[in-house]
Amino acid sequence: MVTSAVIQGGRVLSGDRLSDGSVHLEDGRIVAPRGERAPDGARLYDAEGCLVLPGIVDIHGDAFERQILPRPKVHFPLEIALRETDRQLVANGVTTAFYGVTVSWEPGLRSLATAHNVVDALTRLRPLLSCDTRLHIRWETFALEAIDAVARWLETAPKPILAFNDHTSSTIEKPPTDRKLEATVERAGISLDDYVALLAAIWRRRGDVPAAIDHLAHRARAAGCILLAHDEKSVEERECFRALGARSSEFPMNRETARAARIAGEHTVFGAPNIVRGGSHDGRMDATQAVSDGLCTVLTSDYYYPAPLLAAFKLTQDGRADFAAAWRLVAANAAEAAGLPDRGVIEPGRRGDLIIVDDSEPSAPRVRATFVAGRRVYATH
Ligand SMILES: [Fe+2]
Repeated sequence: MVTSAVIQGGRVLSGDRLSDGSVHLEDGRIVAPRGERAPDGARLYDAEGCLVLPGIVDIHGDAFERQILPRPKVHFPLEIALRETDRQLVANGVTTAFYGVTVSWEPGLRSLATAHNVVDALTRLRPLLSCDTRLHIRWETFALEAIDAVARWLETAPKPILAFNDHTSSTIEKPPTDRKLEATVERAGISLDDYVALLAAIWRRRGDVPAAIDHLAHRARAAGCILLAHDEKSVEERECFRALGARSSEFPMNRETARAARIAGEHTVFGAPNIVRGGSHDGRMDATQAVSDGLCTVLTSDYYYPAPLLAAFKLTQDGRADFAAAWRLVAANAAEAAGLPDRGVIEPGRRGDLIIVDDSEPSAPRVRATFVAGRRVYATH
């Protein structure tokens, strides 16, 4: 049986324009209207006075960690944490969520054991969650004992993203502030002395890391996964990860690196919280300026799920981008960077991933309804 629905009465973002109109859905996809009227039996959804937008594609979100470990040493069951995360995602307009699961050499929240548990729970819950839920494996390149597990996850469906993360070299080269170190130690659940000793032992592995990166890059390419490189520090590093197949730069550390990616036609991913808060929380590039300068093409929730929606509206309000361009950062471009050509824009044939947003207060946009593959999974008034 064909299930059809029509979202009507709103201003629809299609291409570069917002215009009055309706969006027709059939069996989870957007279709061209078959006449003036909605088909018999179609569900009607009212978007009067609101915007109708492609759902947000969030390619790197790790705020679910705060649901698992809301306070140091206080753990919640994964099933509760992940279901709560799913509610937060759809309430903030996210229809495709890549959970940034870190696989590091640290014990505790970012350990291989926790990653196993999170991946297992996500796999089990996936059919029950509202968002299109996917995996973004943040592999710490010094976590050599995780290689086999990561290689196996790369073979699973839907295809995960693999991102090369190296917070080991950066911690050695530029020792973190006391506060950051304290947070890291709390997350790992060990004493500071033990952490420092472990870091020193891990650092001695550095000679084996390049071959491990090569190996997993090869496995990811063979599996058809999207590869990202995280926190790139230089043009040389960009060139190196490009050669390995990482076609986007995630959180480039400086303008030269971001520019090198853009000149090569590659996506550059920045954190939306950086825009909402008016700057980076740890003294990095200003993402708002990067958008103005054409150096940022994708925004992601990073550590705060409300941020992509808020950032797109803030960029528009502050005159940094017109609305269609701002929304591309969280939808069309994000979908492209994630290798998902079936979503991110409103046009016939694409998935029915849509949100209805009340923008009567542009500084506080409110998601009124969220549709994933044509099914309304969230609604409020
Ligand atoms: Fe990082």
